[in-house]
Parts: sequence; structure tokens; C-alpha cells
Amino acid sequence: MSANRPAAVVVLAAGEGTRMKSATPKVLHAICGRSLVGHVVAASRELDPEHLVVIVGHAREKVVAHLAETDPEVRTAVQYEQNGTGHAVRMGLEALGDSGIVLDGTVVVVCGDTPLLTGETLRKLSDAHAADGNAVTVLTAEVPDSTGYGRIVRDEATGAVTAIVEHKDATDAQRAIREINSGVFAFDARLLVDALGKVRTDNSQGEEYLTDVLGILREAGHRVGAAVAGDHREILGINNRVQLAEARRLLNERLLHTAMMSGVTVVDPASTFVDVTVTFEQDVLVHPGTQLLGATHLAQDAEVGPNSRLKDTTVGRGAVVDNTVADGAVIGEGANVGPYAYLRPGTRLGAKSKAGAYVEMKNAVIGEGTKVPHLSYVGDATIGEFTNIGAASVFVNYDGVNKHHTTIGSHCRTGSDNMFVAPVTIGDGAYTAAGSVITKDVPPGSLAVARGQQRNIEGWVARKRPGSAAAQAASAAERDARPGTQETDGGQ
Ligand code: UD1
Ligand code: CA
Repeated sequence: MSANRPAAVVVLAAGEGTRMKSATPKVLHAICGRSLVGHVVAASRELDPEHLVVIVGHAREKVVAHLAETDPEVRTAVQYEQNGTGHAVRMGLEALGDSGIVLDGTVVVVCGDTPLLTGETLRKLSDAHAADGNAVTVLTAEVPDSTGYGRIVRDEATGAVTAIVEHKDATDAQRAIREINSGVFAFDARLLVDALGKVRTDNSQGEEYLTDVLGILREAGHRVGAAVAGDHREILGINNRVQLAEARRLLNERLLHTAMMSGVTVVDPASTFVDVTVTFEQDVLVHPGTQLLGATHLAQDAEVGPNSRLKDTTVGRGAVVDNTVADGAVIGEGANVGPYAYLRPGTRLGAKSKAGAYVEMKNAVIGEGTKVPHLSYVGDATIGEFTNIGAASVFVNYDGVNKHHTTIGSHCRTGSDNMFVAPVTIGDGAYTAAGSVITKDVPPGSLAVARGQQRNIEGWVARKRPGSAAAQAASAAERDARPGTQETDGGQ
């Protein structure tokens, strides 16, 4: 733990975010598997603050419920009317005070709409703040286009920060400044409380600006400092959905960069999408068009894609997953999945097993070396080891009211086009005939045949479809056939 653990981090998230044009509050929009405010809270956590307070206002029930799920330790404070960033921080500090908390040390303020901000940058800011003994340190950045941002005004002679001027309040000369306020600050707690009481609302928006605290502290003779962010893209604030997409792209790039540097081959980063919660081992190979979501983990030498979407799925060592959609599945070591497989929650594929082309599985436990190679639905089932399920089989698990379970043993060979009408059990080493509808248990080692007998009605086409192409083809075949070699099975 760092020596300068902040007393509190205050996250501003009360605004509506009108420019998102959304029924969902801005800070709950998500990129890379986490809400905007969730990213900011996670970065703030890296500072290990004594208190973490999120200021909520607009749609606060939704925001509070979301925070309770993502980080139950977070406190929330309500700002009933959005009277500005200074007012928001004041509400947060007052709420802490009402809970009997006396802040002493550093208070870090961040905005809830800057998802690319890293814990590392926050750490640098708070370290610089402590090292310089500042009353306030603002995180700034040089941006290509400073439109809309608060401008950092510096003393021409000394270079010291003298004020932050909001875009709407800025002169033309000030608007030309490229260095902007990121909205992230480190404050001395006591001086902040004092200065917030002096912030006025005589500006173009009639709001209490947090940025005015800088001028107030400076005029009172306190040290005001700035830390310049190494990468201006990190402080990108999301105000609309174009910026949301841009932030998603940048964060995705960052996540893939980390993965590649740790030994993952990403064939095409531009068409590969990952959530922050995805983990990789070395020598994983990810093909184009792949989305890796939630708590997905890819073990060493796993190969995923192209065109796959895995959510909360574990892929074992050396397993191959091709053109597959999986959700909540566990894929064993060396298993083979796809192309065109759909693995739903509760699927557990054993080592070296197979879920092949056009196979859907749900709540199915498949033993080591067992294969379901083609065109099948396996739902609510347990299958032992080294069994082969014939093509086009359906585990008939639903009677219209309840779901039932099918159990198939080890070393079984089930025929193609079988229906296993659950609940049903097939013993170890049993076989079933192609086209069977299995409704009764099959003892170990038996062959089950459950289908109608075939009968051939000879001459039917000549009688019922005379002159048709079929009848002509049949009579040609009869002419060509050597007598005595025709075999029929039970004609009439
Ligand atoms: C703010 C800064 C600006 C900076 C920019 C960086 C002020 C006055 N301006 O401008 O200098 O360059 O951020 O992105 O601080 N919020 C509340 N309650 C309020 C108002 C805002 O909680 O009453 C929250 C918003 O939800 C948002 C954050 O504060 O998360 C910033 O508010 P926003 O309206 O986006 O401020 P900007 O105009 O972008
Ligand atoms: Ca903003």
C-alpha cells in the first residue's frame, strides 16, 4: 500500500448526459464489459482510498442499484439538483460529514464518464500532489481539439496554473489554449471544504464550478499544481455515442495490446473484441471476428475463432473452438468445438471431447473423449467417456411442462437420427440403431432398435404414376438389371 493513501475518492455521476439521447443514464452505458462509472470506480479502487463516494442524481435508483452490484463497498451521496461539479463535490463531502467521517489528507475527484482513466495515472497525480505539497493538483492534458473543455490558464512568466476557465466563459485567446482540465483533481481535504463554501455561481451556466476552487485557493496563497497526463486519450470524457464508440475502440486496443505482450497471438486486433474481465494464458491464438466476453478464460495453446462469441466460458489447454457461440460453458483440454456449435449454460465438455458442426448443447456434461460430431441437440444430459453420438440426434428433454434428464454411459455407440426421450438411461457399452426413438432404458451392452420395420411395395410407381419420369427410370433400371440379383426385403 502506498504511503499516501487518499482519505477519499469522489466520483461525479449525477448528470443526465442528455447528449447520449438515451433512457439509460450516461454513466451506465458500458464498454468492454463494464459500465462507464464501473471503469472509474475500478481505477479509483487502485488508490485504496479510505472512502469511495459516488455522487448520484439523475436516475439515481438505477445508478445506486448498479453500484451495489458492482462494488458493494461504494458509498453514494445524492445531489438532488445538478447545480454544478463544485456543488456535487460539496454534497459528497457533506454526506460523509453527516456519517461522522472527518476527512484528513487527500481527496481525489474524478468524473464518472472517463472510462479510460487508469489507476496508474491517478496514482501519479496523487503522488505529485503529495510530493509538491500542493493544496490542489489538477490533471491536465494537451488535446488536439479543446472544444468544450475547461482551459488551463498559466502565468506567462512562471508557468504556474492560475485558473481554469470553462469553454463557455472563455475569451477567444483562452479558447486557443490546448491544455485542458481533465476533470480529475487531488485536493487537500480541509482546504477543499473551505474553498467549496466560497464558490459562486456568477458564470454563464449559473453553476457552482469545482474548477473555481483553484483560483480561490491560489488567491488565498496556497500552492496550486498541475500534472500533465502522458496520453491525452486517457482522459476522454464520454458525452455522446460517437465518443462512446471511440472509447470502446481505444480500451479494446489497450486490452489486446496487453494480451499480445503477454504472449497471445491476435491475428486481427481490429475485428477482435474483449472485455476487461477476460484472461489469457500464453500461446493462445485468436482468429478474426472473435468476441470474448465476461469471465472468459483461454488456457495455454487454446485456439478460438474465427467468428466466435464466448461469454463466461473457459477454454482448456489446446482446445480448438471454431465459429462458435458459447455462454457459460467449460471446454476441456484438447476438446474440439464447431464449426457452428452453440454451447449454452451448463455445458461441460471433457478432455478431448467433441461438439461438432451444428451441435447445440445445454446443461450437458460430456465425458472425456466423447464425440457429438454432427447436427444434434444435447440438452439436460450426462454422457460418459468415449461414447459416440450419431449424427442428427436429439435429446428430447422437454415434455411441454417439465425438463427431464438423459444419461448415456461410457463407450456407447448410438445410431444416427436417434431421439432420446427423457427421462431415459442408456447403460455402458450399449448400442442403438439408426433412426430409433429411445423411450425406455437400455441395459449395458444391449442393442436397442426402436423404429418401424421397412416394407417395399413393388411396382407401386408403375401402377400409381404411370408415364412419369420416375416410372421410366424404374423400368430402365429393371431392363438393365441382371435377373436374379434383385433383393427385396419383405415385399407384398
Ligand atoms: C467538466 C469541467 C471541465 C472539464 C471537463 C472534463 C467543470 C465546471 N468543468 O466540464 O473543466 O474540462 O469536465 O471532461 O467542472 N456532474 C455532477 N453534478 C453536476 C454536474 C456534473 O455530478 O451538477 C458530473 C457529471 O455527471 C459528469 C461530471 O460531473 O460525470 C462532469 O460534468 P459535465 O457536465 O460533463 O462537465 P463538463 O461540461 O464536461
Ligand atoms: Ca463531460
